[in-house]
Amino acid sequence: MPRKPLIAGNWKMNVNHIESVGLVQKLAWALTDLKFDPKKAECLVIPPFTDLRTVQIVIEGDRLPISWGAQDVSEHQNGAYTGDVSADMLVKLGCTYVVIGHSERRQYHNESDRTVNEKSRLALDKALTPIICVGEGLGVRRAGEHVEFTLDQVRGALEDIAADAAAKIVIAYEPVWAIGTGEVATPDDAQEVCGAIREELRTRYGDDVADAVRILYGGSVKASGIVALMVKDDVDGVLVGGASLDPQEFALITRFYESPNS
Ligand code: PGA
Repeated sequence: MPRKPLIAGNWKMNVNHIESVGLVQKLAWALTDLKFDPKKAECLVIPPFTDLRTVQIVIEGDRLPISWGAQDVSEHQNGAYTGDVSADMLVKLGCTYVVIGHSERRQYHNESDRTVNEKSRLALDKALTPIICVGEGLGVRRAGEHVEFTLDQVRGALEDIAADAAAKIVIAYEPVWAIGTGEVATPDDAQEVCGAIREELRTRYGDDVADAVRILYGGSVKASGIVALMVKDDVDGVLVGGASLDPQEFALITRFYESPNS
């Protein structure tokens, strides 16, 4: 079965719940204008926790061709974890995806591969699809160790995850030096690491899992560069930060398959 491209917009800590109504509606209008076909790609928005209920109501109420998910989840089921949000709570809000181990969580909240692994296992148990983020910083890239570094993160994230669960995971390769910097990795850079991730999955789990898992690229993605990225064999979509706050731009990225330069 071919992998369905996933175009995910990570709003990060932008857009409050009132503003989220306008952003989702404008995105839906832009998608309609561009004749977006949800059979050809999946459009996902990832708002802050406080927007999720509002986004759910707008999308369900208007039956929009958009999925939604969360930016993080607790590694604990429930209990005395002030400030955390559980997987069950996200499922109750209709989330189907959750971002885990984004470089900003790793950097500012000291999230380790072990935490990423715990969160991913819990998400999978609750039928939430984890979007596991991996990727190297500038120093590692300059030392030429980016592939091995990233694969180590992948191995850490996948510990004790069986093949049937692993097949449902999404992995996002996001070189830290390209996030929010305007510095985009070239399509060949993206393919090099995404391809290596797929081969790691093949070695670990076999062809079925390797061919099923969607691998995204993230880092300063814009509509102008989307086609060159999406033609790469092992790039199955993108995780978009800044450009996902512009509904027209994000819709153009989502409808990459009919771009004039494709
Ligand atoms: P960016 O963010 O597109 O603003 O670089 C990507 C991300 O952090 O997921």
